[in-house]
Amino acid sequence: VPESFLVRPSAAEAGWRTRVVVSRGALLQAADAIVVEFPGSRVVVVSDARVARIVTPRFLARLGARGVRALRVTFPAGESHKTRETKAAIEDRLAGAGIGRDAVVAAVGGGVTGDLAGFVAATWHRGLPVVQVPTTLLAMVDASLGGKTAVDTPAGKNLVGAFHHPASLWADADVLDSLPPRAYRSGLAEAVKIAAALDASLFRALERDAAALVARNPDAVEAVVARCLRLKGRVVASDPRESGPRAALNFGHTVGHGIEAASGWRLAHGEAVAIGIVAEARMAERLVGFPAADTERVTALLERFGLPVRAPASLDLEAFVRFAKRDKKGRAGEVRCALPLALGSMPAGRDPTVAVAIRRDILPALRPN
Ligand SMILES: NC(=O)c1ccc[n+]([C@@H]2O[C@H](COP(=O)([O-])OP(=O)(O)OC[C@H]3O[C@@H](n4cnc5c(N)ncnc54)[C@H](O)[C@@H]3O)[C@@H](O)[C@H]2O)c1
Repeated sequence: VPESFLVRPSAAEAGWRTRVVVSRGALLQAADAIVVEFPGSRVVVVSDARVARIVTPRFLARLGARGVRALRVTFPAGESHKTRETKAAIEDRLAGAGIGRDAVVAAVGGGVTGDLAGFVAATWHRGLPVVQVPTTLLAMVDASLGGKTAVDTPAGKNLVGAFHHPASLWADADVLDSLPPRAYRSGLAEAVKIAAALDASLFRALERDAAALVARNPDAVEAVVARCLRLKGRVVASDPRESGPRAALNFGHTVGHGIEAASGWRLAHGEAVAIGIVAEARMAERLVGFPAADTERVTALLERFGLPVRAPASLDLEAFVRFAKRDKKGRAGEVRCALPLALGSMPAGRDPTVAVAIRRDILPALRPN
């Protein structure tokens, strides 16, 4: 079912809104819309090298057919390139091509491209509009909406960034055909996170449609993408800068980011998040009364999706602790996790994060007997 809707904040946070389109063919619709909505603007299309080969040519051809010759900017694929250095290299390309304020950035790619191109757009000439064209499931269900943009530094993930909401977002399930299996599964982990944190009925739908989702049935995928974006849109609109309820979307991520960084980025983001979801569900049992039966359901669903549910034996625990302590949700030296009370139910109307002790809460949950 193609969907199109607006995500916009309450009056107090006015100044941005994001048009969301979930539709087969959205890749080309995005190009059409850019031509109509930014007439006369230069168009900068940012993709990683892999997407630039596989997906972006169709997008560029559509722009070309409408008389727009875009500036193509490509960087090497992978999280290890989501860095300040890559951002600087992209900025040098923009400078070399004379890109000024009258330009729009299209991020065509996965979450790495969206975060990086979004951050470039946030700061180039103090801010260009950005259009997100996600090409991974993870970017479709999660990363491309909400305005978080960032790069990693050696000290930790997403440490330097800005809030910069996209003008529009175009999710086209058909572009997922070429996605490698690990990247696809990674996206399923974020869908599980959104359902487990926010919507028990979506969680049941994921359980019911698990086989179709694993098989990448486009109708099933499209339905999940649309539901995830509606849920995330609601939370982001209510709390665009994550001063409270939006932190619900970090379920699984305090532990997940620590594992991802400690693995030296060998685990995909969604794989680390899957392990983090299970560990944080176990912590939630002890700390906020999350039902043990719900932990079992989450674990079983992640396993059906082919995702890891326990930390690899090789995990460097000291590195993990170091990275977990640097998590951005932490305050005054505390580590905090967003913990649901039950499947689909976060504490309403307030910051859902809870202070946790690494030795007493996290490590036993990570390495249960
Ligand atoms: N901003 C946010 O709110 C937010 C939320 C969640 C995750 N993230 C970020 O997203 C990133 C992970 O995103 P990701 O998993 O999409 O990684 P990614 O962007 O690195 O994409 C994964 C791989 O798939 C390839 N690829 C992408 N689309 C393809 C396609 N259609 N066909 C073939 N290959 C394709 C890419 O080249 C890459 O090698 C992390 O950096 C994470 O921090 C951000």
